[in-house]
Amino acid sequence: MRHFLTLKDYRKEEILEILQLAKKIKKETKNKIFTKYLDMQTLGMIFEKSSTRTRVSFETGIYQLGGVGLFLSSSDLQLGRGEPLKDTSRVISSMVDMLMIRTFKQSGLEEFTKYSKVPVINGLTNEYHPMQLLADYLTIQEANLDINLKVAYIGDGNNLAHSWLMLASKLGFELAISTPKGYEVNQDILNDAQKFAKISGAKIYIGNDPKIAVKNASVVTTDTWISMGQEDEKEQRIKDFDGFIVDKKMMSLAQEKAIFLHCLPAYRNYEVSEEIFESSSSLVFQEAENRLHAQKAVMVWLDQKRV
Ligand code: CP
Ligand code: NVA
Repeated sequence: MRHFLTLKDYRKEEILEILQLAKKIKKETKNKIFTKYLDMQTLGMIFEKSSTRTRVSFETGIYQLGGVGLFLSSSDLQLGRGEPLKDTSRVISSMVDMLMIRTFKQSGLEEFTKYSKVPVINGLTNEYHPMQLLADYLTIQEANLDINLKVAYIGDGNNLAHSWLMLASKLGFELAISTPKGYEVNQDILNDAQKFAKISGAKIYIGNDPKIAVKNASVVTTDTWISMGQEDEKEQRIKDFDGFIVDKKMMSLAQEKAIFLHCLPAYRNYEVSEEIFESSSSLVFQEAENRLHAQKAVMVWLDQKRV
C-alpha cells in the first residue's frame, strides 16, 4: 500500500505517471465522462487548518470518481478536544477507503499514517504541500514550459518552497529560491533535494536576492508571507519581506513569456501586485482548477497500488 505524504517518497517515473493520468482524467471530465474509478469508495478528509481549494477539489473529485467524501473538521472531531492522531487514524481508517489530512507537523502526519489501514494523502503540513505541486506542474506542462524549465520561487522558505525543492530535484529542472534572511528553507530538506539533484541533474540555487533568482525564469511563483498558524508574526514578516513582492519590475527580469503561479489564497500587494495577479501571464485559476484533476489522479493511482 502506498501513501502520498511528500514527493520525497516518489520516483520521477511515478510523478510523471500520475501527471499523465491527471491529463487523461481531466480530458474525460471536460467531456463529461465520469468514469467510476472509485465506485462506492469513501474518502475521509480531516482538516486541522482552513481550506477552500483542497476541500472543494477532494470532495468534488471523489464524488466524480463514484465515491463520497466526508469533510471532518478538527473543530467538530474529538481530535480537536485532545483525542490523539493515532487513535483518530485507527478509528476512521477502519471505516473509510482512503484518507486525506491537513495537519501541522509532518511527523504528526507520519504517525497518523503509521496507524492507518488505508492510503493517506497529505493535504498540507507545515513542511510540505505535495498535492499543490502536482497541480502546478500540470499547469506548467499545459503551458508547454516543461522543457528547459527554470522556476523562480520568491518568498518564504515554507511548505511550498520545500515542495518545489522536492519536485525540481526529482524531475531535474532548474529552481532558484530567494527568501529574506532568516526565512530560508529547512536545511535537512535542502540536503535531501541536493542529493536527489545529483541523480536527476536538477540545478538548485538558494539565496536572498530575488533579482538573481528571477533572472531568465520561465515560471515565477510565490506564496503568502504569513502561513496558517503564523498570524502573530504578521507585522514583523511584512517588514522583513520588503522587496520580495512579485510585481511588474520583478517579472520584467524573467523571460518575456514567463508565467506567474500562486497556490492561493493570494494577498495582493504583499507577495504579488494586483497588476501581475490579474495579468495575462498569471495562470493561477487554471492552476487552482488543476488541483481537482491532479488529486483525482492521485486517488486513482493509490487505489491501483493497494495490495
Ligand atoms: N492552495 C491551497 O491549498 O488552498 P486551500 O488552503 O484553500 O486549500
Ligand atoms: N504556505 C501556506 C499555503 C496555503 C495553501 C500555508 O501553509 O498557510
